[in-house]
Amino acid sequence: MAFIEINGGKQLNGEVNIQGSKNAVLPILAATVLVNGITKLNNCPKILDVFHMIKILEAIGCTVYWVNSSLIIDTTKLNTSTVPGEYVKMMRSSVILMGALLGRTHSVTITYPGGCTIGARPIDFHLSAFQHMNISLEEEDGLIKCTTAGITGNDISLKFPSVGATENIILAAVLADGKTSITNAAKEPEITELCKFLNAAGARITGAGTDRVEIMGVDYLHPIEYTACSDRIVAGTYLAAVAGTGGEAVLTGIGEGHLKAVVKVLREMGCSIVCGEDYIIIASSGRLKPIPFIRTMPYPGFPTDMQSQIMSVLMTAAGTSKIVEEIFEGRYQNVKEQIKFGADIRIEGREAVIHGVPLLTGCEVFASELRGGAALIIAGLMAEGKTTLYNPYFIHRGYEDICRDLKQLGADIRLVT
Ligand code: UD1
Repeated sequence: MAFIEINGGKQLNGEVNIQGSKNAVLPILAATVLVNGITKLNNCPKILDVFHMIKILEAIGCTVYWVNSSLIIDTTKLNTSTVPGEYVKMMRSSVILMGALLGRTHSVTITYPGGCTIGARPIDFHLSAFQHMNISLEEEDGLIKCTTAGITGNDISLKFPSVGATENIILAAVLADGKTSITNAAKEPEITELCKFLNAAGARITGAGTDRVEIMGVDYLHPIEYTACSDRIVAGTYLAAVAGTGGEAVLTGIGEGHLKAVVKVLREMGCSIVCGEDYIIIASSGRLKPIPFIRTMPYPGFPTDMQSQIMSVLMTAAGTSKIVEEIFEGRYQNVKEQIKFGADIRIEGREAVIHGVPLLTGCEVFASELRGGAALIIAGLMAEGKTTLYNPYFIHRGYEDICRDLKQLGADIRLVT
């Protein structure tokens, strides 16, 4: 059984480059299905979720291969619109293939993705939007079958700015008849990335990054080469690691741009942070200040994907902090592992109250999801003594090689297989 071993209590110092963005690359890989030809996607992270997406694309007839950190995707021989159930179970975000396959083949069959460890994660917004676009749905034996004689643009208003629903609607609308508008659309930078990719391939999308996105249907998308942006959550995780352990580090390949809410919180805690267009320098010394109130919110608010990591840092802050998790109710399942380090965290509903303790102690912990797992690594780096983290698989879903990167910053950490 693989595990990660950390000898904590060391400051982090040095420089690390930030990998390509998981949440940008996954919808772009789905979008390549709309391009009848070859796409070259640069700066693609070598993470499990991308490997799973490659398997799905291959299973539906595409040819996919790596050239260094670029992925070449040839969708010319795409031959089915059924997404294999085994992969949907492994990677819930494969639901974004729905919109793309509907656009390309006018049909899609996919296993109902169901819940996951961070919460129920329904797809009702996606399905209801499809129905407004002349797409019929049938649900049987856990399978969703969608078919259409032709997708028609429509005005869609989302009850909540869901990232996945916004992406799926955009993907379904790109080759549709007429205009689609999305009101209360998600504004996450990954939506903007997806639209930049699609527009570069010939789509006509305006308003990406605002709460109203408009998509004018076009006849086809042409092959292109595109470079994905760097991963703001990986960068945020490493900033949190340096904040928690102390030290000084430079992150390259990313600026403050999409990390403003995280940088603001770290500065309030007492870290010194200097940002350029494509670098961030962080310095942290001594015990950090608590944060009276953090609420996770859709972008540009504080990201739910950084909640667990910041909680680990607050576990040794000099006072009491409060977090309210508004997006995924299941994120606090990780707290039972964080407490093993000696942290004092009380949960009530969506609220977590963290009373900072002077010292964390290394222990044995189990990752059960991606960002929560990263938070346990941060706690292990902050703690005195040895920490063993089991189920590193969850972390490899989104971090190319977290041990390599942290080792580069001077951490005593290794993956044992
Ligand atoms: C995406 C990100 C994930 C991030 C999340 C929020 C990817 C691959 N994943 O996930 O890392 O944490 O955005 O920033 O990009 N909801 C419904 N019905 C729906 C859809 C969503 O009720 O049909 C609810 C969800 O349960 C959740 C909230 O809306 O409470 C936000 O979910 P959503 O923005 O859709 O997250 P994902 O796209 O799954």
